[in-house]
Amino acid sequence: MEKRALITGITGQDGSYLAELLLTQGYKVYGIVRRASQDNCQRLEHLLPCLTLLQADLLDQTSLMAALEEAQPTEVYNLAAQSFVPASWQQPILTAEFTAVGVTRLLDALRKVCPQARFYQASSSEMFGKVRESPQTETTPFHPRSPYGVAKVYGHYITVNYRESYGMFACSGILFNHESPRRGVEFVSRKITQGVARIKHGLDEELRLGNLEAKRDWGFAGDYVRAMWLMLQQDEPDDYVIGTGQTHSVEEFVRLAFEHAGLDWRRHVVIDPRFYRPAEVDVLLADASKARRKLGWQPQMSFEQMVYAMVDADIAALSRAAKPQARAA
Ligand code: NAP
Ligand code: GDD
Repeated sequence: MEKRALITGITGQDGSYLAELLLTQGYKVYGIVRRASQDNCQRLEHLLPCLTLLQADLLDQTSLMAALEEAQPTEVYNLAAQSFVPASWQQPILTAEFTAVGVTRLLDALRKVCPQARFYQASSSEMFGKVRESPQTETTPFHPRSPYGVAKVYGHYITVNYRESYGMFACSGILFNHESPRRGVEFVSRKITQGVARIKHGLDEELRLGNLEAKRDWGFAGDYVRAMWLMLQQDEPDDYVIGTGQTHSVEEFVRLAFEHAGLDWRRHVVIDPRFYRPAEVDVLLADASKARRKLGWQPQMSFEQMVYAMVDADIAALSRAAKPQARAA
């Protein structure tokens, strides 16, 4: 049978890596994009000739059903969400519509159009929030600390519920933070590496950040999309924690990134209370032993390698951008 995948959120960081992986596995890949006045496919440019993009929105059930009718997917990956935690305090209702109820819209459309398709839901370690135990496993209770985290808890449980109610092959991947040179620039990892590159190029003097003490279990996005795919290749649907099993503070990330560029972070980083959150997730740490045992999954890229690759990519991008100016001068 032809393997056909439909990805929501294909224009995002994870969507681009997942599309690459599925194309190399021989899938016909469809992606849902929402209408915008300008095309938003920068992360996909190198893949566009191989993809079929369909216009739909998680807010609009009819468009989701039409996309499923057209793609007739064997696998659906729901990566679309309002994914930036601070924005969820500014737009809590919109976040709930996209990130929580959007999951039900898609699951229900799937139930009606192609109930045999396998379904992946992009759940998050933000659901653990004020952690009840450490490290966190599939059975650790949730205590979300942001409207985003609350919305993801809903998305997780509605996925489990459709599996239990309708026998659908629906999996929830509880993924810890994962980064890459394609990460959005508002997330702390990319904000740091882009900031380092700008300081290195003499474009900025300072980098303004919030809480440097928060700790995250950071991995590389390319490794994590492999885990998503593996979940849908199993005999039975299930939920899995995906992370590296190591935690690092924001300050450690900052120090490594600046040092890699030959800079002293203490001379450039300014603490700005604007970037503190109303409620913080202090520390996250994954126990991904179930994924290791059942999926054979483990991360390939270390924390240090990932930080260095992100810094190098941002410095190289600015060097490329500066070249035409140098020629003109
Ligand atoms: P991202 O870069 O922010 O991408 C989000 C995607 O969702 C974009 O393609 C965006 O489209 C799309 N989207 C947003 N609202 C939509 C709507 N109403 N209808 C259709 N599409 C919509 O996020 P990511 O880092 O790739 O993460 C992918 C998923 O994993 C998200 O659900 C995120 O919450 C979850 N997650 C991420 C991490 C992580 O560390 N990266 C960890 C755990 C879970 P536009 O391009 O049009 O904005
Ligand atoms: N964004 C940002 N900007 N975060 C900062 C800053 C800053 O200037 N300064 C310190 N931080 C701290 C935040 O307070 C937080 O503790 C940590 O850096 C990580 O922030 P983000 O990179 O914005 O990611 P996140 O952990 O809130 O959420 C990401 O990971 C989740 C999985 O745990 C997102 O990708 C979510 O979509 C994802 O579910």
